[in-house]
Amino acid sequence: MTRFVTVLALTLFAAGLAAAAEDAVVVLPAKNGNVSFPHQKHKEALACTSCHETEKGGKIADLGKDWAHKTCMGCHKEKGKGPAKCNECHKK
Ligand code: HEC
Ligand code: HEC
Ligand code: HEC
Repeated sequence: MTRFVTVLALTLFAAGLAAAAEDAVVVLPAKNGNVSFPHQKHKEALACTSCHETEKGGKIADLGKDWAHKTCMGCHKEKGKGPAKCNECHKK
């Protein structure tokens, strides 16, 4: 009985971790290789409004190639930090 409870607890713990990991990294699909975007890492380092219209965040209506290259690549180049080459973001 004790053993069963331990296994159940571990399973629930692992499921919780999986959900947290999903929120931490957002996959932005692209034909030339999907982009893994570490949302959590950016959330901790930047103002929400560097990417979102408001502090609450949410879906980004303009999301796509032009927005991403201007916003994502633009900031990385400006700061000299974060990926700025095609294959550093687009992974097949
Ligand atoms: C560096 C850019 C960036 C920063 C900074 C950022 N986000 Fe986001 N966020 C995104 C992108 C990209 C998405 C995916 C948008 C989409 O799918 O339309 C997203 C999605 C979201 C979503 C929607 C998740 C969903 O699945 O519906 C919420 C809520 C959100 N962000 C909140 C925040 C909050 C709150 C902050 C600040 C603490 C923040 N974000 C900072 C880029 C950013
Ligand atoms: C900082 C990360 C980053 C870099 C660097 C980058 N991209 Fe992108 N790219 C993205 C994101 C994010 C998207 C939008 C994905 C989405 O909207 O789902 C995108 C979209 C695209 C698309 C459209 C894909 C589609 O399915 O419509 C093409 C093509 C593209 N990029 C080519 C390039 C090329 C070529 C380079 C190098 C000159 C490059 N990217 C550099 C992040 C990047
Ligand atoms: C306003 C600035 C800013 C914006 C906008 C921004 N980033 Fe970044 N990003 C950074 C910085 C700064 C780093 C470097 C963090 C570090 O080295 O600790 C980084 C790092 C990264 C990394 C590497 C993370 C790692 O663990 O090494 C990826 C991938 C990335 N960004 C993707 C994106 C994508 C995709 C977008 C757009 C949806 C985006 N970034 C928008 C500032 C930004």
